[in-house]
Amino acid sequence: DWNPGNVVAEQVERIRAQVGSARVVCGLSGGVDSSVAAALVQKAVGDQLTCVFVDHGLLRSGEAEQVEKDFVAATGVQLVVVDAKDRFLRALAGHTDPETKRKIIGREFIRVFEDAAREIVEGSDESVEFLVQGTLYPDVVESGGGEGAANIKSHHNVGGLPDDLQFQLVEPLRTLFKDEVRAVGLELGVPEAIVWRQPFPGPGLGIRIIGEVTAERLDILRAADVIAREELTRAGLDRDIWQCPVVLLADVRSVGVQGDGRTYGHPVVLRPVSSEDAMTADWTRLPYDVLAVISTRITNEVPEVNRVVLDVTSKPPGTIEWE
Ligand code: XMP
Repeated sequence: DWNPGNVVAEQVERIRAQVGSARVVCGLSGGVDSSVAAALVQKAVGDQLTCVFVDHGLLRSGEAEQVEKDFVAATGVQLVVVDAKDRFLRALAGHTDPETKRKIIGREFIRVFEDAAREIVEGSDESVEFLVQGTLYPDVVESGGGEGAANIKSHHNVGGLPDDLQFQLVEPLRTLFKDEVRAVGLELGVPEAIVWRQPFPGPGLGIRIIGEVTAERLDILRAADVIAREELTRAGLDRDIWQCPVVLLADVRSVGVQGDGRTYGHPVVLRPVSSEDAMTADWTRLPYDVLAVISTRITNEVPEVNRVVLDVTSKPPGTIEWE
């Protein structure tokens, strides 16, 4: 019978047999897959593992803290946090094309990650031989087929690391489906906020700002996004929706009125979707009263935003993210 305890015991044995006494590195994104994979490897080989968390500044409110504090507290993992916020902002300055933005973020991510991996063993005669990847069973099947969203958008995650890194891969989740990964995560004590986190793209808020990415725009989007997430959680809807991107139309302005004054602010788009696997999706019919609270709070609490609009497009023809 399948149970998470058996999976943990079995994978711990396998990981130990595979890596022996070598050093292992894992890129943590804050998402379910990389977190559970890291927790498994940590249980198997302890301090032979170092996790690297690249803070590219494109994360949502609270996410870096969740990894830095809660995940480390729960697992005892060795973590290197690289603050690369300025570097990413500089690289993204002046760019508005979605694919260009994705490629810049992917490229910078690899460079920062490589540097961090090198520094882990600097000054010792060791080298890092293994790289942990949170590859799931559906990823294995999908990449075999060579079809899918990757052809439409260049998906960026640590899976895009170049071959010349010459790590051997440790992929303890390769036989598991998402719900099984969650069960294994809970078994390992990974915080619920991480285990139940909704999908979040590697390029983060960088592809949810339509237009140039700037520090100021990121702050605006983060403030709106956290309100939407709080209210969806309060309404008990987290597990009913697949994800709900909030998108800032940074180059669009519209006239509004607040108090006695005219405003000329930006719209944000709510993009709640229901899906099984993100290949297709339907827009979620959120209750009007929940939408009303989100809209009122965002326009009251985020001064730069004076309009909240709802995306009622399925995938296809729309994709889930706007870029
Ligand atoms: P789209 O926008 O293609 O998104 O309908 C499908 C799912 O994939 C997520 N997504 C990404 N995930 N790296 C990722 O790891 C990416 O570059 C990326 N782009 C989109 C998106 O959030 C949705 O769940």
